[in-house]
Amino acid sequence: MRVVEAFRESYGAEPVGVWHAPGRVNLIGEHTDYNDGFVLPFAVPWGVTAAISPREDEVVRLRSLQVDEPVTLATLDQAEGWTRYVAGVFWVLREAGHQVGGADVVIDGDVPQGAGLSSSAALEVVVGTALNELYELGLTKMEIALTAQKAENDFVGMPCGIMDQAASALAEEGKALFMDCRSLSTRSIPFDLASHGLQLLIINTGVRHELPDGQYARRRRDCENAAKHLGLDALRDVTDLGGALARLSGDERRRTQHVVTENHRVEAVIGLLRAGAVREIGALLNASHLSLRDQFEVSCAELDVAVESAVKGGARGARMTGGGFGGSAIALVTDERVESVRETVTRAYAERGWAAPEIYPATPAAGARRLV
Ligand code: GLA
Repeated sequence: MRVVEAFRESYGAEPVGVWHAPGRVNLIGEHTDYNDGFVLPFAVPWGVTAAISPREDEVVRLRSLQVDEPVTLATLDQAEGWTRYVAGVFWVLREAGHQVGGADVVIDGDVPQGAGLSSSAALEVVVGTALNELYELGLTKMEIALTAQKAENDFVGMPCGIMDQAASALAEEGKALFMDCRSLSTRSIPFDLASHGLQLLIINTGVRHELPDGQYARRRRDCENAAKHLGLDALRDVTDLGGALARLSGDERRRTQHVVTENHRVEAVIGLLRAGAVREIGALLNASHLSLRDQFEVSCAELDVAVESAVKGGARGARMTGGGFGGSAIALVTDERVESVRETVTRAYAERGWAAPEIYPATPAAGARRLV
């Protein structure tokens, strides 16, 4: 394994262990996690592999096979760029009172870049999973996910929900992970595409619109303000949608419409999957995309064209996945239509003078685990 070779070369010793944590794609349940709602992601076959040994002192030495310069963090506050995701996990664990020393680490990642498939969550979760074992912390997988989320919220400064880290830590092969983001209860739902003659294509737009004014944080605030106006803890608690919408206006009204209907769509998808009607979830994927585009306003031209052209090419359904403003769309496609979808999407991009998107199938992979 090349992380092990790189570890030997960098630190002149064998690593104590090697761990892997995957990225994720979200089937449905978008921008619902921080509203105490429902999500249904699955882990992708790409992720972050880390060879790690603990150290006697508190120093963290890091090398990534994707980045040239190795980094030595004598203290965690020296972390910059990608190393903050690693340092953040050490920081959260130490703040929580765990006896966590330093470590020598080599990272190897293969999550496609800019695809919005949560490479940062994979990095946090792989480190959390390794430290949990190396320092015998006794954390559950969900506690590792919460640690990773806290690292991202409080150390990196991104106010994300729990979905990405939970998917990376808890997903099971061949299954999607249903999660109630209030109770944190999870259930693995069989999601066997091949036996239904289906593929789930990821269409990586290759774009990332970094909007300067923190659109993600703004959406989160809109939702929290809407819940406050309604006298509720979270938008999850809306039971009478018509009544709620009548009391709201503008952005808060639109965000509420999305979150409440999206939670229902997650439940409907689960019902269909349970019934073995996998093809029928397509219509709900389409509805989710329209809601994210028009009510939640987190799509962009590249995502809309990916979704519209995939459907035109014969997809059963398609939607943007993840936070939005770029990254990837997903399309549910029967085996016979895969080529037609590829061609239609690629042509639509070419007609606009955009670089061809990468298009590849994803099957549900296993969550974080020790490899060696
Ligand atoms: C990002 C966040 C998640 C979630 C999604 C939107 O991926 O990290 O917590 O909010 O956006 O569903």
